[in-house]
Amino acid sequence: MSTPLLQVSGLRVSYGHIEAVKGIDLQLHEGQITTLVGANGAGKSTTLLALSGLVKKAAGSVSLAGLDLSRMSPHKIVAHGVVQVAEGRATLTTLTVQENLELGAYARRDHGDRNADLAHVYSLFPVLKDRARGLAGNLSGGEQQMLAIGRALMAKPLVLMLDEPSMGLAPIIVQDIFRILRDINQAGLTIFLVEQNVRQALKIADRAYVIETGRIVLEGSGRELLVNPKVQEAYLGS
Ligand SMILES: Nc1ncnc2c1ncn2[C@@H]1O[C@H](COP(=O)(O)OP(=O)(O)O)[C@@H](O)[C@H]1O
Ligand SMILES: [Mg+2]
Repeated sequence: MSTPLLQVSGLRVSYGHIEAVKGIDLQLHEGQITTLVGANGAGKSTTLLALSGLVKKAAGSVSLAGLDLSRMSPHKIVAHGVVQVAEGRATLTTLTVQENLELGAYARRDHGDRNADLAHVYSLFPVLKDRARGLAGNLSGGEQQMLAIGRALMAKPLVLMLDEPSMGLAPIIVQDIFRILRDINQAGLTIFLVEQNVRQALKIADRAYVIETGRIVLEGSGRELLVNPKVQEAYLGS
């Protein structure tokens, strides 16, 4: 297999005396969807926050195509193209949809054609175009999630990271969001998807890791893990 685009080695994170992430290794390959799935409290969000530079790493390294991100500030990590979609769809509710998207371009690496990028985001999410001048706070939960993804795309990421984009959304909306992630990936973007919705995440993932209490306990292709008896028993209710 090719060298990974993003390589995480020996990552450990503690909150006080609680060790939330206990030495995990994972790789993201360019052009793939990689997922990290596990139960509530397993350490998924902590792992993402560590990759984004938002929590302190007790040990371990993160590198992007050979560039060491381990001690970089969050804004530099974003500027290098590792961009996280906020959990809980933290859009700025008192700004319009379009203003939220324009803010997403603020941290980007190049200053290419923002209007073209805006048009691209609107083509992925036509509902956002219809509501461009409306307040983000008036969007439905699913639309806010689309806005959060659109805003991250405006930063021109090399790696798009998402923390439970399906959370709190109706199954039909979850299907929409995951289909759009597939489309974005098929256009070439590398995606790191953290999910508690194990079935849906494994369905769209090229590569998957299962995390339990801060440790990776299984890895394989999405397809392999979907039919893995341990995964089925613990996470798929069968
Ligand atoms: N800010 C924090 N302070 C103390 N403990 C935390 C904090 N955030 C998370 N934890 C603990 O770290 C562990 C992993 O949490 P988290 O990464 O949020 O898991 P997940 O995203 O998989 O639900 C849990 O035991 C959780 O209670
Ligand atoms: Mg979480």
